[in-house]
Amino acid sequence: MDLLSTRIDLDAIAHNTRLIKERVGNARLMAVVKADAYGHGSVEVASIMSANGADAFGVATLAEAVALRESGVDKPILAWIWSPEQDVTDALAMNIELGVPSLAHARALVEAAIPAKVCVKVETGLHRSGVDEAQWDEIFSLLRDTQHLTVTGVFSHLACADDPSSPVTDRQAAVFERAIARARDLGLEVPINHLCNSPGTLTRPDLHHDQVRVGIALYGLEPVAGRTHGLQPAMTWRGKVIVVKPIEAGEGTSYGLTWNTDVPGQLAVVPCGYADGLPRSFQDHLKVGIGGKLYPQVGRVCMDQIVVWLGDNEFAVAPDDEAIIFGTGGMSATELAEAAGTINYEIVCRPTGRTTRSYEGGVEL
Ligand SMILES: Cc1ncc(COP(=O)(O)O)c(C=O)c1O
Repeated sequence: MDLLSTRIDLDAIAHNTRLIKERVGNARLMAVVKADAYGHGSVEVASIMSANGADAFGVATLAEAVALRESGVDKPILAWIWSPEQDVTDALAMNIELGVPSLAHARALVEAAIPAKVCVKVETGLHRSGVDEAQWDEIFSLLRDTQHLTVTGVFSHLACADDPSSPVTDRQAAVFERAIARARDLGLEVPINHLCNSPGTLTRPDLHHDQVRVGIALYGLEPVAGRTHGLQPAMTWRGKVIVVKPIEAGEGTSYGLTWNTDVPGQLAVVPCGYADGLPRSFQDHLKVGIGGKLYPQVGRVCMDQIVVWLGDNEFAVAPDDEAIIFGTGGMSATELAEAAGTINYEIVCRPTGRTTRSYEGGVEL
């Protein structure tokens, strides 16, 4: 094992994909593998997802879409973050479908005069990107009248689905229904419409429409606090203990000596720091798993390393032992997120720097 690595359990990815696919019944499952599959490696996980029920893939950028297609994915790929100024030729040549979040994007594709499949991103309440209702007639008519463009559907993104008690989801759902109806009134078929992300998919089966766009749940992390759906977390971030050494009562450790001990004991050093994606602000929130026990990280998070308090080192932690930053054998990504005041999505996207990645499992069905 490298000094610092993520281990991705492909059997967990397979399990989660099958579980979600079963829950959505007849709706298509678009697996969201943007940001290198939330840090899990888009090429590796996409083939497992594909074999276990994913019907299509969703990414943010054109570069992500092209890399996925070049890796051999032959199912539909939708990319929704691009600029109207950008050259879309290569992506369209690879049959990448484009999300259209504004009239300017639609006009750029009309002018490009290249055959393309497009999906219109409609504004329903998130107010991030999406075509406002006042412009629906114009964009739907423009796309309908442009022979080289095929509209696969409309889509939108939920703002508050992680809070099932929020009335916002119902409001967004109603606007979304209106968008589909308006597109059809204007002569577009819009056969594949999609609104739900992971929390929407798990809590609102009535809003599945023709397709769901699921990311975090496929990586095994719960999108709604306090609810469990039998998902299996796929990522473990682990390092190796490189040093174990004693510290005297009254001494402190790491920059600024912000942590001091009243009693003598032992410290372990793990080579993971903020250059590897462990934020300095995680100080005092992280407990590192070593040999099945959790030990507090103490003092400042440095660029390349952290220090862990072993107490009297009752269980004889030693150099070369595995030290789990999160995942199996340590805090879960969700526990670490809650302790550090963030969300599990951010936790799995963090490992970087000197972190390598390895895979286990993954025999295709
Ligand atoms: C447009 C869009 N759809 C779907 C998703 C997937 O969301 P989740 O990971 O909650 O399933 C994302 C991710 O943020 C997104 O940006």
